[in-house]
Amino acid sequence: MKLGEFLLDSSTIQRRVAELAKEIGAYYGKELPTIIGLLDGGLFFVVDLVRQLGSDVRVICWRLRSYVGTSSSGRVCGLEVCQDDLRGQRVLLVDDILDTGRTLESASRRAWELGATEVELCVLVRKASSSGLSCQPRWIGFEIPDVFVVGYGMDYCGRYRTLPSLWALSPAEERIQAAERTTIQSPRCR
Ligand code: IMP
Ligand code: MG
Repeated sequence: MKLGEFLLDSSTIQRRVAELAKEIGAYYGKELPTIIGLLDGGLFFVVDLVRQLGSDVRVICWRLRSYVGTSSSGRVCGLEVCQDDLRGQRVLLVDDILDTGRTLESASRRAWELGATEVELCVLVRKASSSGLSCQPRWIGFEIPDVFVVGYGMDYCGRYRTLPSLWALSPAEERIQAAERTTIQSPRCR
């Protein structure tokens, strides 16, 4: 493995997830929202978060893709198959990272189209460059620099997801990716 700088250890992440769950619980009170976990990157975060929100919370997942290697393809794929009936529901979208904001913007738009009455956002990490975007989560676990990160569900081409901590990918790995880039396919939208 060629990991780079160590960013967050697993107990710091777990502590923060517990704080977020408390804040989210306090915001919604008895009227818990429908949580939509955005996969694949948000997999571990949404699981850890919802288990602390009690048994009344509704949980569904949408699988969206936009990244190719370490950069955004500029397109968000997978929304066309998200057909859940959200009429009359307060929705909380949970994702791993806010980067360009395209994923959360498109997922929010879809949730409104499906009838949600409120759409809030929660991310584990927000990259520095995304702090000026108009689409901003009500809940943010951590602020991180503009680096490509892996671990705790976040991957590079499917790898490193299972690391319990968060790491920046090393420059050596970045160089390998650049060489590999020609062989990595863009996500295909139907
Ligand atoms: P956005 O649409 O550009 O905001 O990117 C959001 C999606 O891209 C997230 O849901 C992640 O799955 C993925 N992503 C963005 N940055 C990283 C990263 O540094 N590591 C792993 N995945 C990332
Ligand atoms: Mg994602």
